[in-house]
Amino acid sequence: MCGIVGGIAERSITNILIEGLKRLEYRGYDSAGLALINGGQVLRERRVGKVANLEEAVNESHIAGSLGIAHTRWATHGKPTENNAHPHISGDVAVVHNGIIENYQELKDDLEALGYVFTSQTDTEVVAHLVNDALKNTPSLLEAVRQVVPQLKGAYALGIVHTDHPNELITVREGSPLVIGVGIGENFISSDQLALLPITNRFIYLEEGDIARLTRTSIEVFVDGNRVERPVKELDAAVSNASKGEYKHYMLKEIYEQPEAIQQTISQALNGNALRDDFLKNAEADFSKIQQVQIIACGTSYHAGMIAKYWFEQLINVSAQVEIASEFRYRSPVIVNNTLYVCISQSGETADTLAALRDTQKRAAAKNLDIATLTICNVATSSMVRETDHSLLTLAGPEIGVASTKAFTTQLAALMLLILKIGQVKNTIAAENIETITAELWHTPKVILDTLQNNEAILRLSELFKEKQHCLFLGRGTQFPIALEGALKLKEISYIHAEGYAAGELKHGPLALVDNDMPVVILAPQDDMLDKLKSNMEEVQARGGELFVFADINSGVNEKDRQHVVKVPSISAVLAPIVYSIPVQLLSYHVAVLRGTDVDQPRNLAKSVTVE
Ligand code: AGP
Repeated sequence: MCGIVGGIAERSITNILIEGLKRLEYRGYDSAGLALINGGQVLRERRVGKVANLEEAVNESHIAGSLGIAHTRWATHGKPTENNAHPHISGDVAVVHNGIIENYQELKDDLEALGYVFTSQTDTEVVAHLVNDALKNTPSLLEAVRQVVPQLKGAYALGIVHTDHPNELITVREGSPLVIGVGIGENFISSDQLALLPITNRFIYLEEGDIARLTRTSIEVFVDGNRVERPVKELDAAVSNASKGEYKHYMLKEIYEQPEAIQQTISQALNGNALRDDFLKNAEADFSKIQQVQIIACGTSYHAGMIAKYWFEQLINVSAQVEIASEFRYRSPVIVNNTLYVCISQSGETADTLAALRDTQKRAAAKNLDIATLTICNVATSSMVRETDHSLLTLAGPEIGVASTKAFTTQLAALMLLILKIGQVKNTIAAENIETITAELWHTPKVILDTLQNNEAILRLSELFKEKQHCLFLGRGTQFPIALEGALKLKEISYIHAEGYAAGELKHGPLALVDNDMPVVILAPQDDMLDKLKSNMEEVQARGGELFVFADINSGVNEKDRQHVVKVPSISAVLAPIVYSIPVQLLSYHVAVLRGTDVDQPRNLAKSVTVE
């Protein structure tokens, strides 16, 4: 069925519209289109078939704008052709429409008598001409739409924009669903909130007969010309339940999707245990030149970058730095020749990461430096993917839960592929090492599946966290970033204060926090640091701390008084951070559920942080 997405923002919304349409693809449609208002013009692209066709056309024409409407059409009046695809234009008005205008033929006759020429067989086009005509009597777009609505019979939802009104988007709900997605300095519309979940979790559900006027910073809703208040609600779980399938929350579903998501991500790059010849082919010249790597990211994506730093240096002898984007962008970093700048981002739209990237590019250009940029991202159409020289997609599928899970583990898989590729190009890794690691990568989904078997055991442990106020996560080497990630997960969804530490730092401060009320989560894979980690565990126990250990089945770490152990299937030390992400995700999830928090939409947080 048809789908509507529209929006008004400061930034270009072209990709948001395309992404939104993609999220509506499941509804079924036969053509797609969008219109953007920019520089006093309506810029329109329409294509028969998949949204991907439209996306290709948009990429070729480079149209952009911060005000626009988009549509997937399921043909009712007229065949699925480009001319019949929405948006429809009359003069300077562009319209998208869901539903049916029952009296369109009689309206069409009247409009033709007035000299309007129809270019489609649709019922929708009458709306565009009617609004255009009404604007002869009023300079107000809102008022023009208000005059048109009583003339329309049927059930419909509309999105309307005009070149002379670059600061407003008008929408109508009359028998066909329409929600407003409330952002910060930007607002959106859609026929299904699912389309807008990557950008907001706050919605106004319009009622039948509502006409709304959206600007970047305001939303006004009118009934019969009178202003009415409509509450802003958090995500309506009931409506979105369908796509959660058997799972209670998106987060749990996404945790369980990880074996498949990782498999998808590695499949694009591997042919058996070898890297595909065409994998990042266009980047080879840049990779051969680079001397070092600078990773820029925020939150969970930053933690993925931290792990990559270990991998870059240990596996391929390439120096790598990683920095939080909000710090990097404001500290006047020295941009260094022959550096690969890597952005990691689930959304590809995170404001700080994007700004850091743009700033880096500007500084490099000003000094005529030879740098390369690459994005690891889950959204193919995102700004970061478009604005970097190269990109590597995580094929995790849409991640709806605010807490990043499958995006994180697929970022790790993608980073490993990138590292192997760079090592291969620079000849700093032996072919047999590539083979060994890729064979282990293929095996990782199975190890994750086995690790997920611990769900019940982790649920039982989470009971012991329910009443806690604080928690420590400890790990060494590549498990240090997993400790940080575990702490981030726990705090963001259960609201328990949690800290992640490199276990070797324990004595330098955090040990003072340990008492018999302090749960300490330990990440204990079978690696070179295991014995040292066991000493750290002793230190905690000696101070009365209660240990919750995720330990390799062969680690020799066993249950004892105030030491709870969940056995994790064996995995090579190098890929262990991917697997040890799973128990910390499950722990946070169950603790949050027991505490009754809003797991998928935790308070104060947004999925995609597009403002500073
Ligand atoms: C973590 O669970 C969060 N969702 C958050 O830290 C997130 O990773 C961060 O905002 C960065 O987002 P990005 O990957 O879309 O750039």
